[in-house]
Amino acid sequence: MTARLLVATTNVGKQREFRRLLAQLPAELVMPEDIGLELEVPEPHATYAENAAAKAVAYCRASGLLAVADDSGIEVAALDWGPGVRSARWGSGSGNQADQLIEKLRDVGDRRARMECALAVATPGEPGPAVEIFEGTVEGSIALERRGRGGFGYDPIFLVPGGHTAAELPESDKDRISHRGRAVMAATPRLLELLGH
Ligand code: IMP
Repeated sequence: MTARLLVATTNVGKQREFRRLLAQLPAELVMPEDIGLELEVPEPHATYAENAAAKAVAYCRASGLLAVADDSGIEVAALDWGPGVRSARWGSGSGNQADQLIEKLRDVGDRRARMECALAVATPGEPGPAVEIFEGTVEGSIALERRGRGGFGYDPIFLVPGGHTAAELPESDKDRISHRGRAVMAATPRLLELLGH
C-alpha cells in the first residue's frame, strides 16, 4: 500500500508547488481538504522553523499521517531584513502585498532581498509527533515593477539571479532555485527514509 503524505497547507499557491516538488516521492500526496481536515494553526513564533513545526505537528496529530508544512517569507535589506516571519501579515491589509512593497521601495536604491523557507516534517509517534526542520534560501532583489503571471505572493516582484522575476520563470526553473524547492531538496533523503526507501 502506498504511504500517504499530508501537505499541511491550505495556501493554493503552496499546494501547487508541493504537488510538483514532492511528485517523485513514493507516496500518495494528500491535501487537508482531501481528508476533511480544517485546522486553524496560529503562527505566533519568532522563527520560521517554530511556525512550520507548529503547523506540521498540528496536522500530523489530527490526521495520524506523516505531514510536511512550511513557513516562509521575504526579507528585504531596506526594511532591516523584514518583514521576514511576518510576511503573510505585512502591509496595510487592503490591496496587494507585492504592490505595496514596490510602492514602499519606490525611491530606495538598495533593493537586495531574499526568500526563506523552513520545511517541517512531522512523523506520528508516542507521546506525540517527532518533528525535523529543513531550510532553503534564495537570494535576489526587489524589482521596480511587477512582472510575470506565474507563482504567487511576492513572486511578481522578486528578481532572481538572471534578471527574471520568480513569476516569469517556468515552474520547473522556480522549483530548482526557490527557497521552497531547496528546502524540499534538503528534506528528500529523510522523507525517502521515512517512507521506507
Ligand atoms: P506563510 O508561510 O504562510 O506564513 O506565508 C508567508 C508569506 O510569504 C505570504 O505572504 C506568502 O504569499 C509569501 N510567500 C511564501 N512563499 C512564497 C513564494 O514562493 N513566492 C512568493 N511569495 C511567497
